[in-house]
Formats: sequence, structure tokens, C-alpha cells
Amino acid sequence: MFQLTSEKVPPHQQVLFMIHGAMVSQAVLAVVQLRLADLVRDGKKSAAQLAEATQTDELNLYRLLRTLVSLRIFSEPEPGYFASTELSACLQSDSPESLYHLTLMLEERWKTVGSLSYSLRTGKPAFEHLYGKDMWRYLTEDDPEAGALFNRAMTSMSGSLNQPLVDAYDFSSIGTLVDVGGGEGSFLVTALEHNPALKGVLFDQPSVIEQARERIAQAGVADRCELIAGDFLQALPPGGDAYFLRHILLDWDDAACETILRNCVQAMKPDGKILVAESVLGSGQADLLGKLIDLVIMVTIPGREREEEEFRKLFASAGLSIRRILPTRSPYKIIEAVIA
Ligand SMILES: C[S@@+](CC[C@H](N)C(=O)[O-])C[C@H]1O[C@@H](n2cnc3c(N)ncnc32)[C@H](O)[C@@H]1O
Repeated sequence: MFQLTSEKVPPHQQVLFMIHGAMVSQAVLAVVQLRLADLVRDGKKSAAQLAEATQTDELNLYRLLRTLVSLRIFSEPEPGYFASTELSACLQSDSPESLYHLTLMLEERWKTVGSLSYSLRTGKPAFEHLYGKDMWRYLTEDDPEAGALFNRAMTSMSGSLNQPLVDAYDFSSIGTLVDVGGGEGSFLVTALEHNPALKGVLFDQPSVIEQARERIAQAGVADRCELIAGDFLQALPPGGDAYFLRHILLDWDDAACETILRNCVQAMKPDGKILVAESVLGSGQADLLGKLIDLVIMVTIPGREREEEEFRKLFASAGLSIRRILPTRSPYKIIEAVIA
């Protein structure tokens, strides 16, 4: 079985696994590009059948498939035949919480991830150096298709986080919840469905709000959900009881986060609160996934994953104090903050 690090594996081999980790990403990308997870969904297929369906070289595809069996992405119920597993289900193109779109982003991200040394040297995101502008502007101005892929990836990836967040926090006492940078409304729809008295405001950039309109209508919550386009670095819709930020602060440096938090404070009712849902990094060996994601953030945008103390300082800089940090059944925690 694939093990990146374990005390049972000799040190030399552990490091060899790490060195070859790049091939793991590429193998997972190939599953998505060739839609292999879709092709084995209804039953086992031979390497020859899969090679014909994907127009690939049979021997080389077999070599990829056997690697994916070691990674437990596929099983090999009989020699030369490959079948789905619960891991490949995450890579099917149309499962609700699919990682398909996020994986597809690797096609583009590869170049940026390969420039970690630039970010280490300069303290700046390699993306801006490679593409000539920051990622948000690039996605809206230069490559709206990549922008749409990013939004789809966020929606499906964060889909698995909705229920754990709604279960971990009592949203029923809130009148109006403003989802700041709420994307296509994936979380807000779940929160509204679970809390019939709750009203929602979905706030995001104009192009994203346009994409969200249909989803909100289809979910049947349009009568309780206002859609507002704008820039959270400028101002936020006033009068909310709570301002919810999931997967937002990690995208920005401390100065921008302070601006966003101050804009929340400006907009919210005096007894309002701010709810932040993202990772709170632990020390030592804890949270490897969060720390790897932090490195991806480092090369793409000027944001970062933060530890509890860093969040406390950040909130204090915006005149807020953290009241509670609630665990959820996901890698995310909910930080509840009020005016200090
Ligand atoms: C990483 S996504 C998170 C989306 C959503 N909160 C979720 O958890 O699925 C960040 C969101 O912030 C939005 N965003 C980025 N810059 C913004 C700005 N200046 N004003 C408003 N929204 C912005 C993006 O369009 C995107 O939807």
C-alpha cells in the first residue's frame, strides 16, 4: 500500500516516495483527463478496453493503471482488469462532491507549483511572475474558461464541507447571513435548506454572481436569498447579523484580510458576528494536508493558511476578538468573532 511517511518505512524509502510524489499528482491528473474513473464506474475493464476507449497506448496505460492500483485509486479484481474504488469515485466527473475539476486545474497549476523556489527567494507568488498579473485578475480578464473551472472546482470540493459546517454551528439564531465571497452559493444553499427562517445574502464578484443565479434558483431558495455583486475589499452589504467567510482569508495577506474584516465590522449590526471557516493549522507533524495546501497558496496568491495565534492577531488588528473556535467533522474549524 502507498505510504508517504510512516515510521515503519525505512527513512531512505520515505524520502524516495516524497521525491516521486510529483508522479502521484500526474497519475491522478491522467485519471481525470482520460475519464478513467467514469469508464470503470459500471464494472471492471481490461487495459485493452480502456486503451481503446481513451485512444492511448495499451502498454503505457497498463503501467499507469497498475500504479493507480498501488495508490488504491483502482482495484485489480483479476489480472489485467481494473475496477473502481471509493477513491476513484471522488474522481468521477459528475459525482456531487467530485474532485474532478480541482484535479483538472493541475494542468495549469503545474507550471506554478514548479516555481516554488521563486516564491521562496522573493516572498512573492510565482503565479504573478509567470502570468504577468495576479491570479484573480488573470482568471477574470485573460482566461474566463480557467475562471469557470476554478469556480466549479471550489463548488464541488467545498460541497463535502457544507454539511459538517451546518452540523457544527447553530445558524438558526441568525436572521440574515451574508456569505462573503460565497462563490456559486454552495454553502449558503445548504445553510438555507437546514434553517427555514434564515435569510441569506450571497456576495461575490459580478461574473461569479451571474454564474450563481441559476444554481440558487434551482435550489428553490431564491425567495430567501439576495445576490449582490461587489468587491469585499471596498464594502459589504450592510445590516447582516453574521458575515460568513469560508475559504476567504487564506487567499489574502494580513493587510487585505484586515481590510475585509474591517468591512465586515462596518457593515454588520452592532451585535453581529463574523464566522470564518477554514483550517487552523496545528504545530509539529499535525495537518500535513493543510501545510501542503499552504505551499500551493504560497506560489499562486499572496495568501496563507494560519495558526490560531496568527488568527488572534489578525482579528485583533481589525478590532475583533475571537469568542470560540469550533471543530467540525472536516479539516475546517469555525472561528466565531465579535467586536472587541
Ligand atoms: C476560494 S473561493 C471560496 C468560495 C466559497 N466561499 C466557498 O467556500 O466555496 C474565493 C471566492 O472569493 C471571491 N472573491 C475574490 N476576490 C473578491 C473580491 N474582491 N470581492 C468579492 N469576492 C471576491 C472569488 O470570486 C471566489 O468566489
